Amino acid sequence: MKKFKYITLVLIIFSLILSSKSFGGDNKFVGVKICSACHRGEKGKMVYDNWLKTKHAQAYKTLENEKSKEIAEKKGVKNSPTESNECLKCHSTGYFENDQRLASSKKEDGVTCEACHGPGSAYKSAHGKDKKDEGIKKGLIIGKDDETICKKCHNSESPTFVGFNYKKDWEKVKH
Ligand code: HEC
Ligand code: HEC
Ligand code: HEC
Ligand code: HEC
Repeated sequence: MKKFKYITLVLIIFSLILSSKSFGGDNKFVGVKICSACHRGEKGKMVYDNWLKTKHAQAYKTLENEKSKEIAEKKGVKNSPTESNECLKCHSTGYFENDQRLASSKKEDGVTCEACHGPGSAYKSAHGKDKKDEGIKKGLIIGKDDETICKKCHNSESPTFVGFNYKKDWEKVKH
């Protein structure tokens, strides 16, 4: 019985380690410029253009305003919010877990495609129409109705948390 408990504990710890690293595996964040090369305008069905109108595209910019400075001060954050991982982890892309997987992505772009669809280095030119399965195999996350993707950031760890309702909130950021 004791041994059984021990094995369970080891399994739990192991799966926690795995799940914290499983968001796109070793793939790197390539940045919204790469995605927008194909996903903008009429031909790209306006995906980038629509994203640009959402608050996600402004998430970094928010960290430059007075309210952000006040929040950071209250929380005792030492650096400026735009330099602090405690804010960037949710207001930018690829800063969770002090990520070492940043490639050509820029923090100024805010919450980009790859924050939800996974880091794109492996799937960026290997997904799409007839290559849906290949894309997924290479780390593309499509995430239909999967609110766990959103709740990584939309949770009470946010200093301004206002609650989250997938159905309603998705309508405001769909693209
Ligand atoms: C070389 C062109 C190209 C690039 C670069 C590109 N995509 Fe795509 N992507 C496509 C095409 C073509 C499709 C299929 C048609 C469509 O849904 O618009 C597609 C489909 C998708 C889909 C829907 C998947 C599905 O199977 O329904 C997602 C999500 C996606 N891309 C995300 C991204 C992200 C995120 C990036 C940047 C990391 C990116 N794409 C970069 C061409 C590209
Ligand atoms: C990487 C973190 C992150 C992820 C993942 C994320 N969001 Fe956000 N979201 C933010 C941040 C940060 C803001 C605030 C942006 C601002 O106002 O500067 C925001 C703002 C929003 C807003 C606007 C809220 C308002 O006050 O009007 C909606 C709606 C929203 N997100 C929906 C979603 C949905 C739906 C998903 C999942 C499909 C999602 N978000 C995934 C970080 C994230
Ligand atoms: C806040 C999270 C989030 C961000 C940011 C985001 N997406 Fe998505 N995207 C989703 C989710 C979730 C879906 C699946 C929606 C559904 O079908 O219900 C989706 C669907 C798509 C689709 C498929 C649309 C269709 O109708 O088949 C494409 C293509 C796509 N995203 C590309 C992009 C690109 C390119 C960017 C950046 C410019 C981007 N996404 C930014 C969460 C996000
Ligand atoms: C766990 C993720 C997360 C962290 C960490 C986080 N934020 Fe946010 N932030 C969000 C989300 C999500 C929103 C959208 C509103 C909401 O639900 O909180 C947001 C909204 C905001 C807003 C706009 C609120 C408004 O009403 O205008 C400001 C300002 C802000 N955050 C500043 C900060 C600062 C400064 C830090 C670092 C000290 C920080 N945030 C850390 C997720 C986060």
